[in-house]
Amino acid sequence: MRKQYGPWALIAGASDGLGAEFARQLAHKGLNLILIARRVELLTKFSKELRSRHGIQVRPIVQDLAADDLLANIKKETGDIEIGMLVYNAAHSIIGAFLDQPLENHLATINVNCRAPLLLIYELGLKMRARGRGGIILMSSMSGLQGSALVASYAASKAFNLILAESLWEELRSSGVDVLACCAGATRTPAYLATNPENPGILSAPLMDPAAVVKEALDSLGKAPSIVPGRANRVATFLMTRLMPRQLAIKTIAKTLKAMYPGHL
Ligand SMILES: NC(=O)c1ccc[n+]([C@@H]2O[C@H](COP(=O)([O-])OP(=O)(O)OC[C@H]3O[C@@H](n4cnc5c(N)ncnc54)[C@H](OP(=O)(O)O)[C@@H]3O)[C@@H](O)[C@H]2O)c1
Repeated sequence: MRKQYGPWALIAGASDGLGAEFARQLAHKGLNLILIARRVELLTKFSKELRSRHGIQVRPIVQDLAADDLLANIKKETGDIEIGMLVYNAAHSIIGAFLDQPLENHLATINVNCRAPLLLIYELGLKMRARGRGGIILMSSMSGLQGSALVASYAASKAFNLILAESLWEELRSSGVDVLACCAGATRTPAYLATNPENPGILSAPLMDPAAVVKEALDSLGKAPSIVPGRANRVATFLMTRLMPRQLAIKTIAKTLKAMYPGHL
């Protein structure tokens, strides 16, 4: 992993949840890490923990991924090192009817979920292609596989991540750069649990642990353009995208989300 995707990996959104788990598993494989997040104390503490546990170098960068100066700051902080892997993990996510949310929230979703990964892929991808090796993982979501009421702009941004990654998988594979979209289902992370979802009963697959999602993503890089981690999620995806008519799939997702978030209607 270090030879193909090292010596440094950059993880955008790395202080908790799936991003922190990417950091742990990549540290275990011997990669040095650049960790981006906004909460300085959490990021500093986590960086120290990774250094002492794995003996790797860790460079924390406190940065809002929605900021205008994102690319300039990242170039300044990382210009001296070779980044062989990019994991774009962070997402801005809002739950509620599209027209009842402030417009700024939807624009923040575009900035964090679409603009920032595009900027980082462009900057780091050029260097990876020139070196003839590299890896890029974009976190997408099962909500991006069809229309998803109550999370409309988030779901649309996750479709953007999926299609961007799959397109680049084909464009870059002959240059030795592997690209993967990971379309996760509900996963036990602080961000997910903070939304206080109700149990929608048989409509949903069981929650996955971050470690299992990240392991599947890392194992699949270079082998597939996109994955849905977890067997139950794959069964649900097969039903929704292959067996059900599109309208029924959209209505089923809406029913599930309304059952999970009755207070957000
Ligand atoms: N959890 C799920 O059930 C689930 C399901 C499907 C897909 N996914 C996808 O998996 C990815 C990770 O999800 P997650 O549940 O772990 O939570 P998340 O809220 O997407 O990511 C949390 C991490 O991102 C950082 N972050 C968030 N916004 C940021 C910003 N504007 N600038 C810099 N850092 C930012 C957070 O640190 P700071 O707060 O310190 O900045 C934290 O380290 C997302 O792309 C999500 O769409 C998750």
